[in-house]
Amino acid sequence: MIKSITDAVTLANGVEMPRLGFGLADVPDGDPVIRAVGWALEAGYRLIDTAAAYGNERGVGWAIRRSGLRREEVFLTTKRSNADQRAGRVVEGFETSLARLGVEYVDLYLIHWPVPGKYVETWKTLKQIYHSGRARAIGVSNYLVHHLQDLAQRAEIVPMVNQVEFHPRLQNPPLQHYCRERHIQLEAYSPLMRGGVVEVPELAEVGRKYGKTPAQVTLRWILQKGVVTIPKSVHRERILENANIFDFELAEEDMATIDRLDQDLRTGAHPDTFDL
Ligand SMILES: NC(=O)c1ccc[n+]([C@@H]2O[C@H](COP(=O)([O-])OP(=O)(O)OC[C@H]3O[C@@H](n4cnc5c(N)ncnc54)[C@H](OP(=O)(O)O)[C@@H]3O)[C@@H](O)[C@H]2O)c1
Repeated sequence: MIKSITDAVTLANGVEMPRLGFGLADVPDGDPVIRAVGWALEAGYRLIDTAAAYGNERGVGWAIRRSGLRREEVFLTTKRSNADQRAGRVVEGFETSLARLGVEYVDLYLIHWPVPGKYVETWKTLKQIYHSGRARAIGVSNYLVHHLQDLAQRAEIVPMVNQVEFHPRLQNPPLQHYCRERHIQLEAYSPLMRGGVVEVPELAEVGRKYGKTPAQVTLRWILQKGVVTIPKSVHRERILENANIFDFELAEEDMATIDRLDQDLRTGAHPDTFDL
């Protein structure tokens, strides 16, 4: 049973990654991000997910330093932007991220999107960054099975993590299967369907059985599927609500009810058609 906010998965290279993290897309740099990260760390979250493209790496680094936690107590993820990938500036982009965050290493470095014609080359550069010791783990984001198969044929290291949109309405069973077989840790972004889970009656119904909200049962369902997740909120009460999921366990029948909600429905862009 997953009992604590610090419970972790072990990645293929032995690095421990917390199962529940905190996402920061669309949170402006400065006070908003500093406040949100501060509340999340206070609530016990130990995985913080940012990206060069979110423009808030400076505030994230500042909030972590201000928390009084030691650097090694926080699992920090950032991602390479598509612009740097297109321009072949992956190492420079990585160094800019480290400087903005004010850290000497990140725990996980991801390729944000599979830019066509570029992502294999970018992956090889990430491998160099990994071997330099400045990223404890490396991975990809928005990769479908065909992207992973392409990488497998053309590169040596298998990504340790694949961060994708994943929630009750978008479950992509073939991708889940592919990642499980190859020890690629799946990480769910937009786990709350960007707030849309509150409108799904079946989630409210399952929640009533446990005295939990639709957001809480959704996050618990994701964790029980062995997937890491990073809900975002800029409201303290929701940050606490989303972390209050370690005192119950969904029964098999309720897991199955949520499994049946899959409609292959995205709230964000499709990796094959996204305008990169
Ligand atoms: N790799 C990628 O391409 C990619 C793409 C998208 C996202 N991500 C990452 O994944 C993280 C999470 O995804 P997301 O931000 O797209 O969506 P999300 O976490 O599914 O949903 C966030 C939205 O739901 C609301 N919310 C939060 N907690 C709630 C609750 N308990 N009840 C009702 N509504 C709630 C938030 O509002 P308030 O903030 O107003 O509370 C916000 O509008 C991002 O922040 C980012 O770190 C990565």
